[in-house]
Amino acid sequence: MLPLGLYSLFTLLLWEFKPVFGTIINTRANIPTSPPSNSEKLAPTLLSFSLEQDRWPDWAGRHSQNVYTYNALTNYAQLTGQPPKIRVGANTEDRTLWGPNVDLVSTVFPAPNETTPYPEATSMNVGDEYYRLSRFMPRGTHMTWGLNLGYSNVTNAVNMAQSIFRAFSSASETTRNGVVLDLIELGNESDLYRGKVRPSNWTISQFVQNWIENMTPVARVVKLSVGGPVGVIACSFVTRIFTATGSFNAGILDSEPGKYITHISQHWYSGEFCNGGDFHLRSFMSKSAVRGNLTVFNPDITATRSRGLVYVMGETNSIGCHGAPGVSNTAGAALWAIDYTLQAATLGIQEIYYHGGIGFKYNFFQPIALDRSPVNNSHLSPPSQPYLQPPYYAGLVVNTAVGRMAGSGMTKIVELELTAPNLSGYAIYEMGKPARAVFVNLNAWLKSDARVRERSVYHIDLSFVSTAKEIKIKRLDIGYADDTSSLMWGGQSWETREFLVSGREVTETRSRDEGVDIRETEAILIWF
Ligand SMILES: *[C@@H]1O[C@H](CO)[C@@H](O)[C@H](O)[C@H]1NC(C)=O
Ligand SMILES: *[C@@H]1O[C@H](CO)[C@@H](O)[C@H](O)[C@H]1NC(C)=O
Ligand SMILES: *[C@@H]1O[C@H](CO)[C@@H](O)[C@H](O)[C@H]1NC(C)=O
Ligand SMILES: *[C@@H]1O[C@H](CO)[C@@H](O)[C@H](O)[C@H]1NC(C)=O
Ligand SMILES: *[C@@H]1O[C@H](CO)[C@@H](O)[C@H](O)[C@H]1NC(C)=O
Ligand SMILES: *[C@@H]1O[C@H](CO)[C@@H](O)[C@H](O)[C@H]1NC(C)=O
Ligand SMILES: *[C@@H]1O[C@H](CO)[C@@H](O)[C@H](O)[C@H]1NC(C)=O
Repeated sequence: MLPLGLYSLFTLLLWEFKPVFGTIINTRANIPTSPPSNSEKLAPTLLSFSLEQDRWPDWAGRHSQNVYTYNALTNYAQLTGQPPKIRVGANTEDRTLWGPNVDLVSTVFPAPNETTPYPEATSMNVGDEYYRLSRFMPRGTHMTWGLNLGYSNVTNAVNMAQSIFRAFSSASETTRNGVVLDLIELGNESDLYRGKVRPSNWTISQFVQNWIENMTPVARVVKLSVGGPVGVIACSFVTRIFTATGSFNAGILDSEPGKYITHISQHWYSGEFCNGGDFHLRSFMSKSAVRGNLTVFNPDITATRSRGLVYVMGETNSIGCHGAPGVSNTAGAALWAIDYTLQAATLGIQEIYYHGGIGFKYNFFQPIALDRSPVNNSHLSPPSQPYLQPPYYAGLVVNTAVGRMAGSGMTKIVELELTAPNLSGYAIYEMGKPARAVFVNLNAWLKSDARVRERSVYHIDLSFVSTAKEIKIKRLDIGYADDTSSLMWGGQSWETREFLVSGREVTETRSRDEGVDIRETEAILIWF
């Protein structure tokens, strides 16, 4: 039995009616003393965001910046030195028309229902001011903007691109505020056009031809150049019917606009809530499921990188169609997101863009007041103020793990080989030396478990050669996996009125030889 230590006293105070230590299971983590050959570079923007285009003004702010979005992103930027990247697009990028006389945006929404309380717009018209709201992102934000391929209307795609480039021109306020246009994306999930806006037997070759027809005039008008400041992100498929490799074989990279492709994007969700359904958090918190959902992309990642291009997960989250209640909005989903993000990094996925929309269940945060419940569409009176959801804490853990040196390209990550069931771990190296490790205990500790058993603990012995005698530990404290609020990262909360940290930071320092404890449904970060 280990000395309880300060942390345990702290948790005893916090949860005095719960058993703090159940069964202790001993295990071991061997941390290589230098980055193994399969380690991967960590990008400071590893954890980035994709936003549904229809309600972009709500995220950004209309007349001044939305302080909730701004603070949520800036908290992350302080950890890595760079704000998350922002992609605006998705479903509604293929339903957008640009018009010269549109002030900001006019949007048509379908009726909400219990499964989909906040449906995407069926159509929208935007004007120049719409893209100019990019100026409200935190300084240093790099953006991707979507163009409409669904309509296959070259005039409209060119109009949208020109409006975007005007918003980011060298004299623009956006540029003066340090917000940068990185990439343009033509078409969202074009593999799903089949049977909707394209014939059901539409092939990848026909997609590539269609993309070239629309992208060629766009590239000419906005004067893209090889190695220029703005690149093209392509593919953005979501099924396995069309693949990045398939598009390479169909010649996308050999085309005129294909020369400007710098990034390949894949979209993925581990499940779908489009028609509702019953999802179980326990089955979601599974180490093998996280790996199963990501390793299928290994051949595309290899094919992409062998061509000198960057591979990103350009839109993702737990469960498609805005998330499932009781899974996507829980503390368990925060642990899932830590493992999913870091796992993606070890596979060579440079960035992973978590999708969000106003009132979506899987959002990291809700940036505006809501007068209907995102969970079941019930009327909320008074409206809920903007709030953070548990996955936001995943970003705090991941970005602390990534650290401020990643921007210089000197930070690497590798997965640790662990035998304890559902315990995942990663080592992070800076300038060739072990700097930090992250452990995630995915075993689910649900409210219902507390009635029948005790919460189990892994005791991890750390074996590696290092001069450091002491380690510092910070915990993501979770009451239960099915909690939807009240997480604590190092004793601090971000669930405050304006998403600014409150409370005093709590970390533990112990001798390296003592090892560390991690409870079911907990994540820890260790500094060496
Ligand atoms: C585009 O992205 C969204 C996510 O908003 C997805 O649900 C949708 O089905 C996608 N594809 C099409 C063809 O609209
Ligand atoms: C709920 O709304 C969504 C989005 O408009 C729609 O796709 C779905 O069919 C609706 N479900 C029901 C049960 O009406
Ligand atoms: C294509 O887009 C242009 C510009 O938005 C619009 O005027 C025109 O009606 C569109 N064409 C079709 C066939 O929808
Ligand atoms: C797709 O189906 C249409 C009509 O059903 C047919 O005319 C066309 O040849 C098919 N295209 C391909 C590529 O199979
Ligand atoms: C990991 O957790 C999942 C979900 O609870 C469970 O189905 C699976 O058996 C666990 N894996 C192992 C190896 O115990
Ligand atoms: C992906 O994740 C879901 C949810 O955890 C799981 O049900 C599914 O089996 C996973 N897929 C693979 C291929 O592992
Ligand atoms: C709907 O969800 C809210 C929480 O957002 C909850 O308070 C309320 O009881 C739920 N209503 C129904 C009818 O399930």
